[in-house]
Amino acid sequence: MQVQLRGISARHPAARAGAPAALGPIDLDVRAGEHVAVIGPSGAGKTTLLQVMACALKPDAGRVELDGTDVWALPRPALQRLRGRLLLAPQVPPLPPRQRVVTSVLAGRLPAMTLGASLRSLFYPSDIPAAHAALARFDLADKLFERVDRLSGGERQRVGLARALLAPASLWLVDEPLSALDPTRSQQAVATLIDAAREGGRTLIATLHQVDVALARFPRIVGLRDGRLAFDLPAADVTRERLTRLYAQHEHELLGAPPKGDEPDQATAPVALHCR
Ligand SMILES: Nc1ncnc2c1ncn2[C@@H]1O[C@H](COP(=O)(O)OP(=O)(O)OP(=O)(O)O)[C@@H](O)[C@H]1O
Ligand SMILES: [Mg+2]
Repeated sequence: MQVQLRGISARHPAARAGAPAALGPIDLDVRAGEHVAVIGPSGAGKTTLLQVMACALKPDAGRVELDGTDVWALPRPALQRLRGRLLLAPQVPPLPPRQRVVTSVLAGRLPAMTLGASLRSLFYPSDIPAAHAALARFDLADKLFERVDRLSGGERQRVGLARALLAPASLWLVDEPLSALDPTRSQQAVATLIDAAREGGRTLIATLHQVDVALARFPRIVGLRDGRLAFDLPAADVTRERLTRLYAQHEHELLGAPPKGDEPDQATAPVALHCR
């Protein structure tokens, strides 16, 4: 699925009156089948951007086009059908605690099922081999019948990703899939996600705090800061200096120190990176 954002500004319904927009103005084009990582400091607007692309948050200005369709001009039923073709995987997957892993994973298919079939599948898991195969890709095959509340945080997060693999979506919007994973698991999980997206010709847009993983695995990197595009570059062109600028100001805020001007301060670079 192709994504086009034109002049988008967005704020959250619960935002304080007078608060700056969480996002925008912003333009962004993602071609069908592209894999893009969105990076930037906390509060930069990464999750908001995914929510706008997922048609979960209506922008207060601008146009969202998916496969050339102006989504907010669609009648409600057509918008609902369109939402069924995309997947927004939140950072903390909403897994009911007493549910079995197999049921949670198969729930990825619910958007494509009739109501009756989806209710039945909650009680009688219908395609156990598919759930098993998706879990195996995240090294969790042995947890098929485990209860979700007996998993570690990182295992839960990988169950959420396995669930995404079963979603009948042509656009995957994945928010911070790695926050509970150790470095080795992070690399593996992203590699699996990218392979699965490539196999299905899906568009994959993921927000990542692990900049080194983003640079190693994604061909295109979008840097967001204060709701705006700081850069949109091939991974090979994302220099350490750009990254320092992307994150630096916020480090000063965190430390309560006055900004030292525009020049990045290499000595206090907040990100340890393997990049060019
Ligand atoms: N539900 C909400 N209600 C009101 N304001 C919100 C809400 N969610 C986010 N915001 C505000 O919107 C801005 C962007 O937030 P967003 O969650 O998109 O950032 P982020 O880049 O995803 O940050 P993080 O890396 O911490 O997840 C922030 O200023 C935040 O305070
Ligand atoms: Mg976020």
